Amino acid sequence: MKSTVTMTDNRTEKSYEFDIIEATRGPSVVDISKFYSETGMFTYDNGFTSTASCKSKITFIDGAKGELRYRGIKIEELTLNHTYLEICYLLLNSKLPNEEELQDFDLELRHRSLIHENLRHLFQAFPAGAHPMATLSAATAALSTFYYDHLNISNEASYQEMARRIIAKIPTVAAFAYRHSIGAPFIHPDIDRSFSENFLYMLRAYPGGKMHRGRNGEHIIKDIEVKALDTIFTLHADHEQNASTTAVRGVASTGAHPYVAISAGISALWGRAHGGANESVIAQLKMIGSVENVDAFIARAKDPTDEFRLMGFGHRVYKNFDPRAKILKGLQDQLKNELNLDSNLMQIANKIEEIALNDEYFISRKLYPNIDFYSGVILTALQIPTSMFTPVFVIGRTVGWITQWIEFKKDKEMKIARPRQLYIGK
Ligand code: SDX
Repeated sequence: MKSTVTMTDNRTEKSYEFDIIEATRGPSVVDISKFYSETGMFTYDNGFTSTASCKSKITFIDGAKGELRYRGIKIEELTLNHTYLEICYLLLNSKLPNEEELQDFDLELRHRSLIHENLRHLFQAFPAGAHPMATLSAATAALSTFYYDHLNISNEASYQEMARRIIAKIPTVAAFAYRHSIGAPFIHPDIDRSFSENFLYMLRAYPGGKMHRGRNGEHIIKDIEVKALDTIFTLHADHEQNASTTAVRGVASTGAHPYVAISAGISALWGRAHGGANESVIAQLKMIGSVENVDAFIARAKDPTDEFRLMGFGHRVYKNFDPRAKILKGLQDQLKNELNLDSNLMQIANKIEEIALNDEYFISRKLYPNIDFYSGVILTALQIPTSMFTPVFVIGRTVGWITQWIEFKKDKEMKIARPRQLYIGK
């Protein structure tokens, strides 16, 4: 027997039947694509809290359990045993790479990490204090002008080339945006360095690529820093149909260039309700200043008349601990001695968490720390400036956005995204 949901309009006593489509994991859906043509009404779902916008095989989140899987594999297993580049390969190809596939993938990204020399002039157009997210969004859209042939691609090989190109170039664009914002000369990517090490190199190196060594001549990009950044990129790689991925799919649905779709994702991510929260968390911890002040700010977060919100807390899907937050907290504890993490900021964060997790206001609303609550303290310890926190999120997430873009393009059922409205005007 077919699974259906029946709805009755009590004004007319008319009933309507809609099919249920089962998921392989998580909630089923009610197919309401014929709802308007059958009922003459629209459904209304402010913020899409109960709306599935597509079918996807990429990432699965169980908000109640606090579970996250990329291509069916749990995030805990992936961060423990695999590098970010293996995760990129997994998301793009639905399987983890073998040794040879990984080497080829890594080499290809290294060779594609350079950007066209003309793009340098774009950065000069921005004032020194320009926020790197603005520059990153603009430069990513500008990349489409150098690869206009990606506009009409439709086969696997072209999708893979387009995807590897943008994954490889985003860290360079982000690093250039930062270097411009501090008036420092650009450092070109060094193809002898791994993906994550290369990003730290492009942020820190002196002109000519010289890296001053520490007091005892030690290499100033430590392996532990590279591993921490690699884990952070993995944790940010994809997250189902979040706001910025929805923006990417929306632009993809009109047939625009894939790199302007990524640029739209960067713009959407910048908001402090989304990826911009990681920058706001550190600003907030610094504003709170000491453990003694935490209670007063918790009271403000609970006050409905006060706009203040605890940045890094709450999530549309997770009504339990964000599994990524748990992993980052573990990483914080692991790094605190090796990278002398800012103990004051950590103490304030731990105090917020301790109070909030026992306070009725947060418990009743199922507000837990999310990925942004812990990432900032680690990024600060990696000497990454606060203005570059959300660009780090962009670097991690680009593989997710482009994988979602490809899935959209391959889905024969997908159409232009064009929701309706409840008109309440004159
Ligand atoms: C990311 O979607 C994703 O997957 C995103 C992301 C990804 O990987 O792509 O996970 C990355 O964006 C993480 C979230 C980062 N944002 C923040 O940390 C900003 C602070 N958090 C909030 O603004 C909020 O929690 C959201 C935006 C994350 C979620 O908002 P919702 O789901 O729309 O929830 P809501 O605003 O309706 O809040 C429900 C209630 C409200 O109280 P009442 O009206 O019921 O009394 O909870 C309260 C809110 O006032 N609330 C908070 C709060 N978050 C929600 N109160 C105080 N502090 C907070 N942080």
